[in-house]
Amino acid sequence: MNFNPHLRYNKRNMMLRSLPRTIGIIGGGQLGRMMIYRAKKLGFRFAVLDEEGAPAESLADVFIRGSLKDALSLRRLARAADVLTYEIEHINTAALEELQEAGTLVFPSPASLKIIQDKLLQKQLFVKNGIPTAAFFTEESISAGGLAKGKFPLVQKARREGYDGRGVRILRSAADTPLPAASFFEELVDIDRELAVMAARARDGSVAVYPVVEVTFNAEHNICDTVIAPARIDEKTAARARRIALDVVAALDGVGVFGVELFLDKQGRVLVNEVAPRPHNSGHYTMEACLTCQFEQHVRAVAGLPLGDAALLRPAVMRNLLGQPGSAGQPVIEGLYEALGVPGLSLHLYGKAETRPFRKMGHFTVSAATVEEALEKAESLRPILKIKGIPECAGIRAGEIV
Ligand SMILES: Nc1ncnc2c1ncn2[C@@H]1O[C@H](COP(=O)(O)OP(=O)(O)OP(=O)(O)O)[C@@H](O)[C@H]1O
Ligand SMILES: [Mg+2]
Repeated sequence: MNFNPHLRYNKRNMMLRSLPRTIGIIGGGQLGRMMIYRAKKLGFRFAVLDEEGAPAESLADVFIRGSLKDALSLRRLARAADVLTYEIEHINTAALEELQEAGTLVFPSPASLKIIQDKLLQKQLFVKNGIPTAAFFTEESISAGGLAKGKFPLVQKARREGYDGRGVRILRSAADTPLPAASFFEELVDIDRELAVMAARARDGSVAVYPVVEVTFNAEHNICDTVIAPARIDEKTAARARRIALDVVAALDGVGVFGVELFLDKQGRVLVNEVAPRPHNSGHYTMEACLTCQFEQHVRAVAGLPLGDAALLRPAVMRNLLGQPGSAGQPVIEGLYEALGVPGLSLHLYGKAETRPFRKMGHFTVSAATVEEALEKAESLRPILKIKGIPECAGIRAGEIV
């Protein structure tokens, strides 16, 4: 029999409480991989479901090859684990609901995931709970042909399956072609800066909230480029953003860590854009800069443990390492020695076998005494640290440093 360090006994050797021994993660991308390497320290085992070669495969205790949408594979994962969670929201909620009904613990709940999977349901939840968000119109509320008469500019958003900006289109006039998807329309917010807050909620309803961060995006591809912690905003605005993030998680009755994306507009309004039911790119900085990182926090919450302290230790800047445009193939890391020589810098490479233009291949976080200093260090690496791809037969091995 395997030793389970999470069973607690009283003096008469009666079992008091059992915590999960194996956490099942649906999805083995970089988020799953980081969840494993940061939460292993609590003694858990991890079972992961994803396709072969996924970044978390080499770290998982049990790896189940299969599609995230396949009910049979999800059942196999459930059998291998004591509690299920996920690192991606585009998964089979109907199968998750069935598992939950059959007694499997799933956090965040399939009910909250169903809302998050549909951006319109998210917006309606925000409104119902008095959470500030950009004004929006449903397709039905814009009567047939009404879009032509509508008030432009509008932001069209696909209700489902959007990520990294896919599924978002700015319509400046009736001449612009709308996305061919079930969608809704939002006012175009006059954004001063984009903010994000990671908020955690435990099974008993206790909460922990991380600092507000600023997020900048790659303009061309709408992928997160840089995260600045803490955000350079006044304290009142920061407190409002943190309050709003906690309200969002409570409205969802969420258990786990949630990435709440916000806009600060030019009039000083803080508006919720959307929420992700999992660790988030805007929370990677917590691994080096906070007392408890988002990955450990998520596992604590889904495992039924108390939450950790989310306090910021030092200002930090996180930058994504995206595959260089115009190159694909086996990844070659340029400038690795220079990067690792920067004091305060921590590098994460996701172990993906192949790079493609703008694919998330890794990230670094640089901590410093001030945000300005951290930004300066991050900026100094922009022309140096690059992930390029080479064709397989070029005689250099994957991951080789040049
Ligand atoms: N109403 C709006 N007004 C102005 N800009 C917006 C609005 N909605 C979205 N955007 C811009 O489009 C970006 C992507 O929008 P959103 O986060 O809704 O899409 P997404 O595809 O889910 O993106 P991701 O997966 O990267 O979070 C936002 O970060 C913001 O820059
Ligand atoms: Mg977004």
